[in-house]
Amino acid sequence: MNRVVLITGAANGIGAAIAHTFADQGDDVVVTDLDAESAEEVARTIRAAGGSATAHGLDVASDADWTALSEELRGAGRPPAIVVNNAFRNTVAPVHELDPADWQATVDVTLGGVYRSVRTFHDTLTAAHGAVVNVASVHALLGWPGHPAYAAAKGGIVALTRQLSVEYAPNVRVNAVLPGSIETRAWDSVDEAGRAAARRQATLGRFGRPEEVASVVVFLAGEGSSYVTGAALAVDGGQSTTVAV
Ligand SMILES: NC(=O)c1ccc[n+]([C@@H]2O[C@H](COP(=O)([O-])OP(=O)(O)OC[C@H]3O[C@@H](n4cnc5c(N)ncnc54)[C@H](O)[C@@H]3O)[C@@H](O)[C@H]2O)c1
Repeated sequence: MNRVVLITGAANGIGAAIAHTFADQGDDVVVTDLDAESAEEVARTIRAAGGSATAHGLDVASDADWTALSEELRGAGRPPAIVVNNAFRNTVAPVHELDPADWQATVDVTLGGVYRSVRTFHDTLTAAHGAVVNVASVHALLGWPGHPAYAAAKGGIVALTRQLSVEYAPNVRVNAVLPGSIETRAWDSVDEAGRAAARRQATLGRFGRPEEVASVVVFLAGEGSSYVTGAALAVDGGQSTTVAV
């Protein structure tokens, strides 16, 4: 479709799948991540397959990084029409054991990244009649021990999505996806009992694949969802629909 699509946290997992899915349909992908080297690998793979992509180091919590990326993209004539906020940070600990610096960093990356993206590119999104898609989580709806800052940030993303959709209407549509248990490296440290519980919690009885989130993100950024804005769409295999485990 030849739109410029900026994705944060796109070097791995769901973000990388989102980058590949946009590229596969002909969009020009700006692959950004804290890990610039892995982002370059994603962009290289996209180009090798005939797609269009560049890689950029971007810490979503850094105002200076957003300014530098904005100058680079505008200078190159590649202002983003679509922004996907996917980067996150988490420290697993109950509130009374959570260091204030970890609380602050989790909120600043996970929720603050959404704020900074729109602050930086509201004008290019508006000019392009573009879209923002924010990757939240079922943690916005459901409590888990040990995830206070992450849950607060993800719940904040849902509220901020609604707010931004009102603020920048009618030119920019803003929506969120709420993934459930998706098979990425985020699950590497979870034992088999934890993984079995995650499978049981989803009524579909399995983990989701990053591509199954990516296809919904691409839908929410495209023509097929032209009358959808301010929505928070669960992509969770039914996890948030039941209390049966
Ligand atoms: N995997 C799941 O089960 C699951 C469930 C619900 C929601 N999510 C959400 O999906 C998104 C992607 O998660 P994933 O599972 O693919 O994780 P992942 O660890 O595979 O990828 C996350 C990426 O974010 C990057 N990142 C971390 N801090 C950053 C920063 N400050 N600035 C820029 N990039 C940064 C990392 O380098 C990494 O490449 C996150 O928002 C996560 O909260 C994942």
